[in-house]
Amino acid sequence: MASIFIPSQQRTIGDPTEMRDFLKPFGIWFEQWQVAGRLKDSPTDQDILNEYADEIDQVKKTGGYVTADVINVHADTPNLDAMLQKFNREHVHHEDEVRFTVSGKGIFHIHPDNGPVFGVTVESGDMINVPCGMKHWFNLCDDRHIRCIRFFEDVAGWTPHYVEQSVHSEYSPMCFGPSQLPPKSRIEPMVRP
Ligand SMILES: [Fe+2]
Repeated sequence: MASIFIPSQQRTIGDPTEMRDFLKPFGIWFEQWQVAGRLKDSPTDQDILNEYADEIDQVKKTGGYVTADVINVHADTPNLDAMLQKFNREHVHHEDEVRFTVSGKGIFHIHPDNGPVFGVTVESGDMINVPCGMKHWFNLCDDRHIRCIRFFEDVAGWTPHYVEQSVHSEYSPMCFGPSQLPPKSRIEPMVRP
C-alpha cells in the first residue's frame, strides 16, 4: 500500500484517509482498487484492461481522459536505464499523469509550489494522479519493476518538460512502506545538506 514521506518534516503518512487529506490541497487524488483475486497468473495487458474496464471508464469520464494502456517495465526491459532517465529528473507534463499500479513498486516525488517536497511510494492497488503542471520525478524501487494502467488525455502530449533549477538530486529515491519504515538512521540521508 502507498505511503507518503515528507523529508523536511521527517514525517510519514501511511493511513489511507490521512493520505487523501494530505494530498487533496495539492489537487492529487488517491484511491485503492482491489487487485487480489481479480487477475489470473501472468495476465496479459488486455486481461488487465478487461478486468478493470468499469473503473477505467469511470476514471476516463470524470477526468476527461480518452485512452488507457498498460505499461510493464522490469529489470530486463531493454534500455530500461535510458527510459528511466527521462522521468527521474524533475519535470512537468501538460496533462495529468494518472497511474494505477497493478504490480511492482515505485516512488513519485512531488514538488508543489505551495508546500514541501514529498515522496509517494506506490505499489499494487494504488491509483494516483499527478496534476498537469505539477513538478515531480519518478524512480523505481529496488526490484526495478512496475506494471501500471496509464490514462491519457492525448498520448502525443504526455512528454516530460524539464524544470530549471531542479531539486531532484537533493532527495534520495529510496522507497519504503508503512510496514518497512526505515529506522531513524536511514531516514536522515533522505535530504542531503
Ligand atoms: Fe512524469
